[in-house]
Amino acid sequence: MAPGRGLLLLASLLCVAVNAQNLTFPPVPPPTPGMGGSNLTANPFPAPSGNGVYLGATLDWDVDSPANLSTRLGVPLLTYSIFLKFPLTDIDKTFLNKTVKTEPYPSLGADGQTKPSIMVTLEPSSIEALSDATFDDPTVLGDVVDMVRDLNAKGLYVLLRFGHEMNGWWYAWCMRPIQYKKTFRRVGTAVKSCAECSATAMLWAPQIAISYPWGLDIPLNDTTFFTRNPDYANLNLTELQTLDTNGDGKISLGDEPYAPYYPGDDIVDWVGISIYFNGKDFYGQNSLPTPNTFLDNIRGIDVTSGTLTAPDFYQIYSVQKGKPFALAETSANWNAQYAAANPNSTTMLQMKQAWWRETLSDRILDAMPNYRASFTFEFRKMGEDIKTVTFDYGYTTTPEVAAAFLADLPKRFLLSNGTFTSLNLRQLPPAIGGSSFLVSSPASTSQAARTVTGAATQAPAQSTATASAAAPGTAGTLKGGAGFSQSVANSWVASVVLGVLGSVAVFAVTS
Ligand SMILES: *[C@@H]1O[C@H](CO)[C@@H](O)[C@H](O)[C@H]1NC(C)=O
Ligand SMILES: *[C@@H]1O[C@H](CO)[C@@H](O)[C@H](O)[C@H]1NC(C)=O
Ligand SMILES: *[C@@H]1O[C@H](CO)[C@@H](O)[C@H](O)[C@H]1NC(C)=O
Ligand SMILES: *[C@@H]1O[C@H](CO)[C@@H](O)[C@H](O)[C@H]1NC(C)=O
Ligand SMILES: *[C@@H]1O[C@H](CO)[C@@H](O)[C@H](O)[C@H]1NC(C)=O
Ligand SMILES: *[C@@H]1O[C@H](CO)[C@@H](O)[C@H](O)[C@H]1NC(C)=O
Ligand SMILES: *[C@@H]1O[C@H](CO)[C@@H](O)[C@H](O)[C@H]1NC(C)=O
Ligand SMILES: *[C@@H]1O[C@H](CO)[C@@H](O)[C@H](O)[C@H]1NC(C)=O
Repeated sequence: MAPGRGLLLLASLLCVAVNAQNLTFPPVPPPTPGMGGSNLTANPFPAPSGNGVYLGATLDWDVDSPANLSTRLGVPLLTYSIFLKFPLTDIDKTFLNKTVKTEPYPSLGADGQTKPSIMVTLEPSSIEALSDATFDDPTVLGDVVDMVRDLNAKGLYVLLRFGHEMNGWWYAWCMRPIQYKKTFRRVGTAVKSCAECSATAMLWAPQIAISYPWGLDIPLNDTTFFTRNPDYANLNLTELQTLDTNGDGKISLGDEPYAPYYPGDDIVDWVGISIYFNGKDFYGQNSLPTPNTFLDNIRGIDVTSGTLTAPDFYQIYSVQKGKPFALAETSANWNAQYAAANPNSTTMLQMKQAWWRETLSDRILDAMPNYRASFTFEFRKMGEDIKTVTFDYGYTTTPEVAAAFLADLPKRFLLSNGTFTSLNLRQLPPAIGGSSFLVSSPASTSQAARTVTGAATQAPAQSTATASAAAPGTAGTLKGGAGFSQSVANSWVASVVLGVLGSVAVFAVTS
């Protein structure tokens, strides 16, 4: 999903007729030993130590910031995410400058060691962005390399997610497996060829493919289909043929939804997926997910039919390939219009809480030990293709929801130490290459260096309520513990100084 774009996952809108039989898929071979590629620890963005997990928030940077998000949640996150276009435009570069590099950004993990990070999603701006001719212009790759080099030099790990959800049909870069893989490899190779970009990891993250391809049934032997259906007119038959993995002459349920798009063990550092909950019975319904929806989805089991309609993504791409797994996008999409029309229906808190307990709980993290980063989609009031539906995605939208989210948050999630400093103002030693990724320098004393979370004077109702509801009576005291990481173990005590915009409160974060 992407901000500012009318996008619709029709997955649960279409009545996909699923066989009661399990489908079978050809095995995906594991990587050849000794052929290189990343694993959990030998990774440009290593998985956190112990059983730690990164918790990230995808912000609507036009109206939100890391400091504001941390204020709403009541604890300071260490990781954020942003969408930019590929090729990068001046607008993107300016936007990055004005937001990520200017707004106070977390300085260091609460464990005093873990560096902050950012997921940068590059969205190809058109089909042409995947064409060979695009790369005649050396600035196309040069700009990406410059961007991640700069973010690395400012002390951030970068998770570079190129062309997410490429196995869907809703983006210009979807259903282009050959050019997609080629372009992913071009971007990855450029980044990996840059010695000062050694803290940038390539993330490959398709859409979870339950009942793939979501009701589409594209006959490859009938070229008039493409002229009759203008939405598909730009697709390339040669590329589409590689998607017909079961060779039945069409792209339809039973084809392999991931493998045709996998760019290669040597170029992919992290694997991830997008999974949203849009309603149990139909798209836009405020409702509770069937228990185990998330794990079933991950394993390829269609919740309605109980049968396998896709391969086990986590097992094949994370466990078998030894790569860390990121839940790159997730949320329960709450529909205010539906609530108004159905006053007794599932509340925002009930729906979101059920979903984050599905996706972000200790139970799930224990079941999926390679699951080491999770990004919530903190957009509010974003319109969708169905213009009557305006979803609320965030887990911090209301004080009530934010407090419940904080209370449920597993302790193994890594947080910031509470000090946020503008990247532009960080004084860092000169960047050096190789594995010597730099630790952030002492915080700047300028105005842009802020310590964060807790009560912001300009949002008193929300942030105060959030903080006090988080831990009644102890205003923001959060139990830490073994979860956060080995190095903080059970004795983790961090004073988080809260001082956005001059208002100060102190959160004692203890085990
Ligand atoms: C990860 O890769 C490195 C370098 O190839 C290797 O030394 C290490 O044993 C691997 N770790 C795991 C957990 O596979
Ligand atoms: C953060 O929140 C404050 C107070 O609500 C608001 O004035 C400001 O615009 C927000 N900052 C950003 C970058 O959105
Ligand atoms: C972004 O900021 C950098 C300095 O940090 C500057 O060199 C560059 O020109 C800026 N780019 C844009 C498009 O504003
Ligand atoms: C295309 O193949 C399908 C079987 O998948 C067959 O039923 C249909 O008649 C074929 N159409 C043409 C135009 O050859
Ligand atoms: C279709 O895709 C193939 C494989 O990427 C490419 O060689 C061919 O030029 C493409 N055809 C058109 C018309 O774009
Ligand atoms: C389909 O696969 C699931 C999960 O492996 C299994 O529990 C179920 O019994 C299978 N169903 C059929 C009809 O084979
Ligand atoms: C909602 O619930 C209340 C209390 O149970 C009941 O009186 C009312 O009729 C219900 N309204 C609707 C629209 O179902
Ligand atoms: C957080 O880490 C930064 C960078 O090392 C440091 O300057 C700052 O004092 C730390 N803040 C706290 C509250 O420990």
